[in-house]
Amino acid sequence: MLTIKNQIAEALVAGVRTMKPDAELSAEDIRSMLEYPPDSAMGDLALPCFKLSKLLRSAPVKIAAELSAGLSLPCVAKAEAVNGYLNIFLSDSYLCGQILPQVLMQGEAYGAPDIGQGKTVVLDYSSPNVAKPFHIGHLGTTVIGHSLKKLHEFAGYRCVGINYLGDWGTQFGKLITAYRLWGNQQSVEEGGIDALVALYVKYHEEAEKEPALNDTARAEFHKLEQGDEENIALWKWFVEISLAEYKKTYAQLGIEFDSYKGESFYTDKMPAQVQKLRDMELLKLDDGASIVDLEAYGMPPCLILKRDGSTLYPTRDIAAAVYRKETYDFDKAIYVTSAGQSLHFAQWFKVVELMGYDWSDKLVHVPYGTVSINGEKLATRTGNVILLRDLFTLAIEKVATIMEDKNPDLTDKDKIAEAVGVGAIVFYYLSNNRIRDINFVMEDALSFDGNTGPYVQYTYARTCSVLAKSGAYDASDLTVTAPEEADLLKVIARFEETVRNAIADYEPSVVTRYILDVAGAYNRFYHNCSILGAESETVKNTRLALTQAAKTVLGNAFDLICLAKTEKI
Ligand code: ARG
Repeated sequence: MLTIKNQIAEALVAGVRTMKPDAELSAEDIRSMLEYPPDSAMGDLALPCFKLSKLLRSAPVKIAAELSAGLSLPCVAKAEAVNGYLNIFLSDSYLCGQILPQVLMQGEAYGAPDIGQGKTVVLDYSSPNVAKPFHIGHLGTTVIGHSLKKLHEFAGYRCVGINYLGDWGTQFGKLITAYRLWGNQQSVEEGGIDALVALYVKYHEEAEKEPALNDTARAEFHKLEQGDEENIALWKWFVEISLAEYKKTYAQLGIEFDSYKGESFYTDKMPAQVQKLRDMELLKLDDGASIVDLEAYGMPPCLILKRDGSTLYPTRDIAAAVYRKETYDFDKAIYVTSAGQSLHFAQWFKVVELMGYDWSDKLVHVPYGTVSINGEKLATRTGNVILLRDLFTLAIEKVATIMEDKNPDLTDKDKIAEAVGVGAIVFYYLSNNRIRDINFVMEDALSFDGNTGPYVQYTYARTCSVLAKSGAYDASDLTVTAPEEADLLKVIARFEETVRNAIADYEPSVVTRYILDVAGAYNRFYHNCSILGAESETVKNTRLALTQAAKTVLGNAFDLICLAKTEKI
């Protein structure tokens, strides 16, 4: 079924055609011109007609008048021409008779745009570097990446989530060196990733004083590359330990990956691409290193091989992209990293294009800003970085204390505190446009009153508790009687469009803001309209159906941003 906005856009195109039969204009064009007015007195949707005056060679006031006279649709109650704007008011009975039953019927599928059928998206996200701390800088790639995966899945795409682990590189030479000098099996088994990070940190401290250590580390990495059994065994063990730790954090977020093929997997896939670059005469020698000159594209050269012939980060990314294209035949390959890596992606995307791969335009880099933390000093054993795990733990502890106060009789307290604590961080983080740098203020994130995770999860729990109290109701007996009911339905009707916009802009915050709109509309309705004590059965049925619809939309939207659905708080 067409969304309300699409129905209106199509009718308006038809209206435009009656004025100018050969007008070059699509429903999509009109759709993008339609606005949600800031004040509902100006309608539920508005078309600024000055945007059409050039095309129609006519004054906005006249266009608005003609379009309003011709607009007749079941979903439109009235259309007014005001100062060159066409103000459109939606019909309550349409919202109640069409949209509400649609939400109830479609349930978990409500709001899914049908745009991904038969298409595949590969998403490369989270991808921490083994033996280096999994810190708050990784929060962005992890939750934005997963959210983009959920959004695409919802829209019908086949999705492959890839954790491109940083499991190869000179850091392993350092770690092996440090382990042999200062570590032992028992301490690493007991200490897990913390023990590894500590060894890595100690290595750097010692190498400052004794630079010769770097030669040892280089030699150890070289041995590893040559397949030395002992080093390979150590490397595998370090990767395993780190992965076990990451998986705990992923479990808290409800995240699973389809592939953990990390950088090491591409070692034997790089030579073919390097050879292709060479054959195409794209490689240039620069002070002994092999580069692709990108001056013509306004970028510094892309480094392919170091002087000693070893490969680099871009080399691996190129080989990995070719492998993924061959393996998954993607329609889109999305990479989520900090904006600090934007140049890296622009460079190797260009190299892939120069190599003649016709899918180079299907590579998408999704950058995000930096995170800093205010207020709380989180002590870690690793110096000045804040581990994601510690951030979650702190949030969970604080939520547990707040809940102990608010609702001491709650069962399953630990599970709920975890869902709300982790959810608070995710929601706070995803509330901002991804490209903006954000400053984390724990108190703000955890507040139950602001525009926060706890607030929207609490609203979800509220819908659950209303429905639990009411029991069964007759969902075929519905009528809208209060403005808050219609307002809630109008927000609910915008869900599919929200999902489309979030996908088009690779922007989960579009969903987060929408969730706040739904929660706000539901809470206004809840406070102003008596549900269980409604004046008639029909009104009560409608309000329960609205509660069910709000629960459905909130739940569906929570799933899209890794926010847990909490039946009770
Ligand atoms: N491991 C890298 C880092 O932590 C991120 C990898 C991003 N993905 C990629 N295909 N380069 O900085």
